[in-house]
Amino acid sequence: MMPEVRLRPIRMSDAERCFRWVTDPEVALHLGLTRPPRSVREERAWIATVLSDPEHLRMFVVEDGEGRPIGTTTLRGIEPEEGLAHFGILIGEKHLWDQGYGTAATRETLAFAFRELDLREVRLSCYSRNGRARRCYEKAGFEVVRGGALWKPEGGADLRMRITRGEWEARAEGE
Ligand SMILES: CC(C)(COP(=O)(O)OP(=O)(O)OC[C@H]1O[C@@H](n2cnc3c(N)ncnc32)[C@H](O)[C@@H]1OP(=O)(O)O)[C@@H](O)C(=O)NCCC(=O)NCCS
Repeated sequence: MMPEVRLRPIRMSDAERCFRWVTDPEVALHLGLTRPPRSVREERAWIATVLSDPEHLRMFVVEDGEGRPIGTTTLRGIEPEEGLAHFGILIGEKHLWDQGYGTAATRETLAFAFRELDLREVRLSCYSRNGRARRCYEKAGFEVVRGGALWKPEGGADLRMRITRGEWEARAEGE
């Protein structure tokens, strides 16, 4: 059964916990961040960027059923005209991995992307060696894109996945 999660917009007061999550070597291993924050101050600067540009960038804190923050999801490079965005996630509380939280948070973020932002496609790039993330994305409805690259993955990622609005709607109806 899928655990209960809730998304809320990130706040400046999340900087310390976000810094802790993103600098945890096990979490950071597969993130492929081009510029990981070196201090809480840098994390605050990043959050300030997020808060200043909601048209192109949305970041959420994932809370468990008790309202405890457990990770983040991000929609980056949002192109309202084209209806596209790139998805990212981390569940920073590692003891909760493999319990369905990542999948539940991915689904909630997709619902926001397709319902609230009215996007037509959500994309992501990740490392194919990150079997856990790939499985999480597949459970949420993403499919691997093969062959010709529609977009350039960042930070050496070698696996591209996407989900269209139509695919998402068909899944939502089937549930
Ligand atoms: C990737 C991440 C978001 C997944 O979150 P999660 O809460 O563990 O995800 P879920 O429990 O919903 O799904 C994980 C699935 O992967 C499976 N899994 C675990 N390790 C695996 C592996 N090495 N290979 C394949 N599948 C694996 C789990 O069994 C589970 O599938 P199941 O429900 O069918 O049993 C989380 O582990 C994380 O934050 N990792 C570090 C940051 C990261 O890698 N982010 C993604 C960057 S692309």
